[in-house]
Amino acid sequence: MRSAAQIRVRGEAGRPLTLSDFCGLFGAEPESFTGGQVKAITTKDGFRVSDLGQAETEGVMIDVLKKTNSPELTVAGDAGSNSRWERGWAENLAEFDPSGGFETLRPKYVRSRQPVRLYQKFVMPQNPDFEYEWYKIFLEYLARQYMGDAGTIYEFGCGSGFNVAFLSQLFRNKKKVWGTDWAQSSVKIIDRMAHGGYNVEGRMFNFFEPDESFRLDEGAVVLTVGALEQTGTRYLPFLNYLLEQPISLCINIEPIVEWYDQSKLVDYLAVLFHERRKYMSGFPETLEGLEKKGELSLVKQKRSYFGSLYIEGYSQNIWRPQR
Ligand SMILES: C[S@@+](CC[C@H](N)C(=O)[O-])C[C@H]1O[C@@H](n2cnc3c(N)ncnc32)[C@H](O)[C@@H]1O
Repeated sequence: MRSAAQIRVRGEAGRPLTLSDFCGLFGAEPESFTGGQVKAITTKDGFRVSDLGQAETEGVMIDVLKKTNSPELTVAGDAGSNSRWERGWAENLAEFDPSGGFETLRPKYVRSRQPVRLYQKFVMPQNPDFEYEWYKIFLEYLARQYMGDAGTIYEFGCGSGFNVAFLSQLFRNKKKVWGTDWAQSSVKIIDRMAHGGYNVEGRMFNFFEPDESFRLDEGAVVLTVGALEQTGTRYLPFLNYLLEQPISLCINIEPIVEWYDQSKLVDYLAVLFHERRKYMSGFPETLEGLEKKGELSLVKQKRSYFGSLYIEGYSQNIWRPQR
């Protein structure tokens, strides 16, 4: 894969993402951001991107196509997927010492020094950790905007536990944050966090066979990030489980294949990659159907227009069960 050093960009300085860009990408008002976030966005100069020339864009597209067509590319939810996640999170578990913070929980697939997709183009960020820094602002926005009133937060498919640790620290241990996953190594990370003083709890949970005995707290907020994507079309058991719970809100941050514009090549490449990996499909329509039946109310549906080389993973579907 091409690195920052290999890609020559047009105009050395590039252009910064402004607060107005963040508002547009998140579907947020400027008032939704804290002073600290505004400062991080506007003064640290960490969100500068440069357009790519035609040759660079074509090179990036060829790399994406090679990856998409690679025989090694794995498929979500297949027979080997559970053990692949086990192995991946076991690496994070081996490195994780809660007394040293939670940077080691950054998932290894959030890569540095790579072009990203922004407004249906590939661009090269100046900051090698652009996606990671963008994501932390996004997660804090979601937390402050939607989780403030909840006493308990549950992340399903919590993986390395990065989001669990981040939310637990953001709310200064005042909220209980649960992390569940079908991989044991992921739950062990949360257990280690709990022993290290975080107000968190871990539990095994499989989207394909929801454990009805796991009752969620009244008024809680549920979060998934790039987790339901892994279920293909098998997310209904989990949705039906959530509809029976006394939660106040569910926030699904997932790639939505139906929201790409297939007349744009950069979007079309994401569709190819998404389909090849057998990521989730039909999700917004399913939520809309459940809303028509009076089972839930949609609060927000927002395409992210930002993502990694391969997909836009940060689209928002936010809803609440109707009772
Ligand atoms: C791309 S990772 C996302 C992890 C985390 N949410 C994050 O944002 O870093 C997908 C996660 O979904 C979990 N997962 C996949 N299929 C699952 C299933 N059937 N039940 C529960 N978790 C599943 C994987 O173990 C993995 O931790």
